[in-house]
Amino acid sequence: MISVDISRTGVEAEVFDLGKQVKAAHKRLRTNKASDCNVWVELPKMITEKHLARISEKAEWVRKNSDVLAVVGIGGSYAGAAAAIDVLGDGFPVEFVSLGFDTEPLEAFFKKYKDKNVTVNIISKSGNTMEIVAATQEIENFMRGKYSAAECKKRMIWTTGVGCHYECGSCRQEDSCEKPQKGGFNIPDGVGGRFSVLTAVGYLPMAVAGIDIFTMHAGASVAYDDLDTCTLEDNAAYLYAATRNLLHSKRNKDVEILASFYQSMERFGQWWQQLFGESEGKEGKGIFPSPMVFTRDLHSMGQFVQQGKSIMFETIIDAAGGSRLNKAATMGTVRAHADAGVPVVVIKTPKIDAKVMGYLFYFFEIACAMSAYLLDVNPFDQPGVEYYKRNMREELAKPVLLIMAAGMGSRFGGIKQIEAVGDHGETIIDYSIYDAMLAGFRKVVFVIRREIEKEFCERFFNRIKEHIECEYVFQDFDDLPDGLKTPESRKKPWGTTHAVLAARDVINSPFCVINADDFYGRSAYAKVVEFFKTIDPCKCGKFALVGYELKNTVSEHGTVSRGIIECDEHNFVVAINERKKVRVKDGTIGYEDDGEFCPLSQNASASMTFFGFTPDVLPMLQNKFESFIRNNINDDKAESIIAQDVGDILKEGKASMRLFESADDWHGFTYMEDKDKVKAAIKKLVDAGQYPSPLWKVSK
Ligand code: PA5
Repeated sequence: MISVDISRTGVEAEVFDLGKQVKAAHKRLRTNKASDCNVWVELPKMITEKHLARISEKAEWVRKNSDVLAVVGIGGSYAGAAAAIDVLGDGFPVEFVSLGFDTEPLEAFFKKYKDKNVTVNIISKSGNTMEIVAATQEIENFMRGKYSAAECKKRMIWTTGVGCHYECGSCRQEDSCEKPQKGGFNIPDGVGGRFSVLTAVGYLPMAVAGIDIFTMHAGASVAYDDLDTCTLEDNAAYLYAATRNLLHSKRNKDVEILASFYQSMERFGQWWQQLFGESEGKEGKGIFPSPMVFTRDLHSMGQFVQQGKSIMFETIIDAAGGSRLNKAATMGTVRAHADAGVPVVVIKTPKIDAKVMGYLFYFFEIACAMSAYLLDVNPFDQPGVEYYKRNMREELAKPVLLIMAAGMGSRFGGIKQIEAVGDHGETIIDYSIYDAMLAGFRKVVFVIRREIEKEFCERFFNRIKEHIECEYVFQDFDDLPDGLKTPESRKKPWGTTHAVLAARDVINSPFCVINADDFYGRSAYAKVVEFFKTIDPCKCGKFALVGYELKNTVSEHGTVSRGIIECDEHNFVVAINERKKVRVKDGTIGYEDDGEFCPLSQNASASMTFFGFTPDVLPMLQNKFESFIRNNINDDKAESIIAQDVGDILKEGKASMRLFESADDWHGFTYMEDKDKVKAAIKKLVDAGQYPSPLWKVSK
């Protein structure tokens, strides 16, 4: 169906010298073992009509019941479908919404389709690609907001290699649907991502886009038969592979341009680029694959190809059809570049329809595997890709301690957060940071008021930054949603939710929120860090809260505010009831409500504002704050309260929160009179050897 013309490469005579190596590699390729990852070679014969019919049936259902198919997939789990749809799709919308961590495409998608019917195809061979885990969570929330659980199940189709057997149609999704889910699709073992286009990975989105996948598969099957021979004379894919190998090894061509003269082939070029780039580029070897669309790119890169440094060869896909002018441009370009000494391979194909496309996919896959074998690299792994993932996971797993130090301390009568409580001038914050560092926190962010910046830096920050990465942000009165301004009469900051939001631009990993003037004890930090380790860094809405026995948190010197925690039987928080004016009356702890004293259990769990959050809490809190401020902008006393806002988020089912009971006593300052008690408690811990004195021994 297609032919390869190497007459303008200058290696046409030498290429046949590679015959022996090609033969050996052919044998390796056709020995289909899942452990060698080359089961994909057999796909054209392995995939049954019945399987294709099941994909088609599902695709028909999607077309009838949806206005769009959203595909969540990246790399080999999207590129082939996108390539085919651009060339052959009938216009039914298929949107690829997860090609990175940029949230804008998903947000735009949600906006565009909020009132339309949506079906989603989540495609991930491994089931743990971070981009996919993150996007899936977002899209699941979107779908759950639109549809019932039963409908979501029908509209979220999983194509994955995890936990399924070929043709069984079970799925991996842990929380959102029962297992096994009928209607999902499996990627067989031994079929790597970039070699999976001829499975449901490519076929389902293609069929939804109106592509005849039976014909495409038949094309791949023809390619299978045509290319099941080891002689270079008869195998066009091997001829192409051997030619590029020689151009690289004997003519020092390190770059290959794959050029097509059709705009619609742009994403085909990207599919090819991924296939060859990820398969060959390793161990310091490989040919850099650079796809181009001509004649567009002739007006930019054409100059370089024609007269620039001679580092490249060109492969031109000369597809039949197209206009007279396009044909002339193709021939003119081949001649110009060949005349300039650029080796040109021409791949001639019939007009590209479903059958030819199926053929081309298989052709390039086979050529790629052969090329990699000739280069002596393993085409089926991608160890280099793991580096960014590992570093990214490390970044995401670095817990941050967010210390709210902007409180007015009105009742305390000073800047209580920098008040010394240790024998060598240590503040409560010093002890908190010390405990946090022992637990594994790597960074501290302070929220302060602008007015205390100088004193805060001189007396505290400049010292502490010697020990841990830290920065501070301001809780500014005028950091309000667009169009709003704090009235002149307002003297108090806008509350704890507002304080946390002040740090929104500097936090992108799990973080703990604490008060500067509370001493929480060591175990709280350790418990939350352990909790963070259990959650996938791409997962959202997994929060933690440390609770303290209420009886240890009241002040002898006046009333306090406390969040009283309610939990379910699995220790997940269901509510945090904010109680004001909590005090001890005649030996009973209670709070005042409309002048009435309401008793509380002294063993109740109280929130002292020790939260563990995944960073997705920030947009949730932003929403809460926006509605708070619009309702309260003129109320000089109103404050946003994080415990209340988080409680509402939990009630809305947008997150879950694990309660951890602290094993330590809490100590804090609300009144000046509390200070001596805090000092005594810390001294006791120092004497017991829990803290060195002075706390910070190393001073650079
Ligand atoms: O070719 C490959 O193996 C990769 O490009 C993968 O397709 C890509 O990383 C996505 O992986 P997964 O399908 O496991 O989510």
